[in-house]
Amino acid sequence: MNQTENIFDTSKNMQDRKLMLEIVGLRKSFGDNHVLNGFNLELYEGENLVIMGKSGAGKSVMVKCLVGLMSADSGSIKVMGKDITKLNRAELDDTRTEIGFLFQGNALYDSMTIRENLEFPLRRHKAKFGTVEDTTPLIMEALESVGLAHTINLMPSELSGGMQKRIALARALILKPKIILYDEPTSGLDPITSKEIIELMRRVQKQYKTSSLIITHDVDCARVVSERMILLVDGTNYAEGTFAELASSNEEQIKAFFK
Ligand SMILES: Nc1ncnc2c1ncn2[C@@H]1O[C@H](COP(=O)(O)OP(=O)(O)OP(=O)(O)O)[C@@H](O)[C@H]1O
Ligand SMILES: [Mg+2]
Repeated sequence: MNQTENIFDTSKNMQDRKLMLEIVGLRKSFGDNHVLNGFNLELYEGENLVIMGKSGAGKSVMVKCLVGLMSADSGSIKVMGKDITKLNRAELDDTRTEIGFLFQGNALYDSMTIRENLEFPLRRHKAKFGTVEDTTPLIMEALESVGLAHTINLMPSELSGGMQKRIALARALILKPKIILYDEPTSGLDPITSKEIIELMRRVQKQYKTSSLIITHDVDCARVVSERMILLVDGTNYAEGTFAELASSNEEQIKAFFK
């Protein structure tokens, strides 16, 4: 893969695109630990937006607020125009089917086979798909998109870390979400496996036409997949721009991200 190649046609005017996610003034503290201090983001249709921040900067807290796993202290979070902080449980559940979430660490269920892991979201979100009598075609489609159809009857423990990551991505794709959140998709993987995952993210983007929010501190990953980037420092947007703009900055704090 050519590392300098970027997957996006940036010629399209961003403002003409639909706003998929909008976060305004997000705040979250744990006691005296003020993690998010007015964080903002906009994710447009078809865009790959990368958020970079140091360990402990609040990236995972932000995505947990975004999918309703954690409640923010203040701020608004709109998913395709709906403010999720104002939805009831059922509405929130429904909105969450529009977001596929690749957790940091894969969060596959160890005691379930790969098939059962992928079946889980289908059963949980019956409202969107109705009762699917035969889940096999949907499961196979998702597994094929990550190149792992042959693992359907295996247990997660029988797969390598990189394969587990790909299964987690298949599980995130099975509800055909419009948005995918990747929390550290390449962390803990060797460089070759990381490249495979990055390549897979590119393919998924093309096949499923998703909009993606990618949390990473992997500079190679950011270079290849980002259309736009936000640097998160002290719980707020420190700098924004394209990879090329930020990577060529002379500002010390920004330079530190690209070392
Ligand atoms: N449930 C929680 N209770 C208390 N503090 C928490 C909780 N979750 C996160 N924190 C704190 O919030 C801060 C940000 O954590 P977070 O997991 O978002 O970091 P991160 O930017 O994702 O880091 P990494 O790159 O290591 O994944 C940390 O100081 C962490 O200790
Ligand atoms: Mg994290």
